[in-house]
Amino acid sequence: MSVEPRRVENLQTDKGSVPVYTTAVVEQPWSSYSAGDHATWATLFRRQREILKGRASREFIDNQERFGMTPEAIPRFDELNEVLARATGWQLIGVEGLLPELTFFDHLAHRRFPVTWWIRKPEQIDYIAEPDLFHDLFGHVPLLLNPVFADYMQAYGCGGVKAHGISADALTNLTRLYWYTVEFGLIREDAGLRIYGSGIVSSKGESIHCLESPAPNRIGFDLARIMRTRYRIDSYQKSYFVIDSFEQLIEATLPDFTPLYAQLAAQASIPAGDIVEGEKVYQRGTGEGWAVEGDV
Ligand code: PHE
Ligand code: FE
Repeated sequence: MSVEPRRVENLQTDKGSVPVYTTAVVEQPWSSYSAGDHATWATLFRRQREILKGRASREFIDNQERFGMTPEAIPRFDELNEVLARATGWQLIGVEGLLPELTFFDHLAHRRFPVTWWIRKPEQIDYIAEPDLFHDLFGHVPLLLNPVFADYMQAYGCGGVKAHGISADALTNLTRLYWYTVEFGLIREDAGLRIYGSGIVSSKGESIHCLESPAPNRIGFDLARIMRTRYRIDSYQKSYFVIDSFEQLIEATLPDFTPLYAQLAAQASIPAGDIVEGEKVYQRGTGEGWAVEGDV
């Protein structure tokens, strides 16, 4: 029998009802995972590794291999931490689930990456609304071995603490950046566009959709533009943003965002599926299957 996560309450937000968990750091209860939990990991791991061949970025695949993750069993955080500590000084900490924003930012600012300790149920194999162990470990952790991306994540945490002290709008701008890079980012490699976003690599459907479907837009990375762009939380993205390299990402985000937030406060948000005149478009989406309402 596996242990159940301790859910504290549900919080009503602009994104609907969101579960709130205890913010405590918890020891990964590794010996409590059931055979079913390990089987869920195995199924998801095998399936995604197959789908991601030729789709995920080189960095993602290489680094995942460096961790020695296998389908055999749910990885142990303390074993992954030994590899991480040597490479970039990041540390995984076990948590019950989504954290309040400020707690999350503070962890990142200190190079601690919160990983949900529990894994989804078999009936949630194809879709789960909230992050679980598979999303966090399989999706987010590999790129923490990349020194440039590791720095970007920490800078994001520091930026989050700062934005939190500026305004709710600043925080919205910053959250969009996270969404369109860390969660749903694409990168241009010599062989073509590849996935690095965790929200994509942990999703069977979106891993194919984001690269192969004619429906979505694929647009060149532009910081201010992304910070104005609304997004989807209940369907595949209408737009994906493409970086040329992780260096481009950190160079663009290194400057102090304070003046940028002030500028953006006077500008309207951009609907998730819009193309802006003059921007670099890799693909103009057909918009097939898009819901009109519901960009957040
Ligand atoms: N430079 C940003 C700021 O001043 C911090 C940041 C870096 C945010 C990288 C996101 C990613 O707020
Ligand atoms: Fe995530």
